[in-house]
Amino acid sequence: MEVKYYGHSCFSVHIGGKTILFDPFISFNELAKQVDVNAIKADYIFLTHAHQDHTADALTIAKNNNAMVVGIWEISQWFNNQNYTNTHAMNIGGFWQFDFGKVQMVKAVHSSSFPDGSYGGNPVGFVITDGTKTFYYSGDTALTLDMQLIPLRHSIDFAFLPIGNNFTMDITDAITASNFIQCNHIIGMHYDTFGYIQVNHEEAIIQFNKSGKILTLMNIEQTIEL
Ligand code: NI
Ligand code: MN
Repeated sequence: MEVKYYGHSCFSVHIGGKTILFDPFISFNELAKQVDVNAIKADYIFLTHAHQDHTADALTIAKNNNAMVVGIWEISQWFNNQNYTNTHAMNIGGFWQFDFGKVQMVKAVHSSSFPDGSYGGNPVGFVITDGTKTFYYSGDTALTLDMQLIPLRHSIDFAFLPIGNNFTMDITDAITASNFIQCNHIIGMHYDTFGYIQVNHEEAIIQFNKSGKILTLMNIEQTIEL
C-alpha cells in the first residue's frame, strides 16, 4: 500500500486500486503551503470527526473528484445538507465491504462538531483491510481500553496514531495504544501543526524504539510503501 502524507492528520492510502484520503486539512495548514489541494486525487474521503483540522478541505476535494465521503451518520448528513450526496454513512462497530476492501468503524475518545457549530456525531477511527494487509487509522483520540478489542477481530500491520499531546494522546500513551492494538509500526500524526502539539521527532522515535516499536514521521508530500 502506497501511503502519502499531506500534513497534520491527512494521508492518502492506495489500496485495492483506489485512493482513500483521511481527514484533509491543508489550505489552513501553514506547514502544508506547498500542497496544491486541487491536485489531490481521491476516490474516497474518510472522516474521523468534524473538527476543522480534519474536514477543512473535504468538500472541495470531494467535489473535485466526485469522491465518496465516508463518516459517521451525522457527518454524512452534513455533506448531504451541503448538497453533496456521494456519501456512505456508518456507525461505530459496523463493518462495510467497499470495492477496495473492508472497513470497520471503531470508537475514538474525543469530541466532534463542525466549524459552523453543527453536531458531528461521535468521533471514530477506522480499521481497513484489502485482505492481505490491515491498518488502523485512529483519528484524534485519547488512549482507551477499547483499543484492546481491535486485535480480537484484526491483525494490524501498521497504524496511524496521534502523538501531539494536549488535544490527543501523547507519545507515551501512543506507545501503550500500539501495545493494545498489537502493532509494532506506527505512523505518527497530529503533531507540529500548531501551538500545543510540537514534538521532538528524535526523542519520539527513540521512545518508540525503546519499546521495541518503529515510529515513522513522514515529510509532507513524502510517499512510502507499506
Ligand atoms: Ni479533533
Ligand atoms: Mn484534531
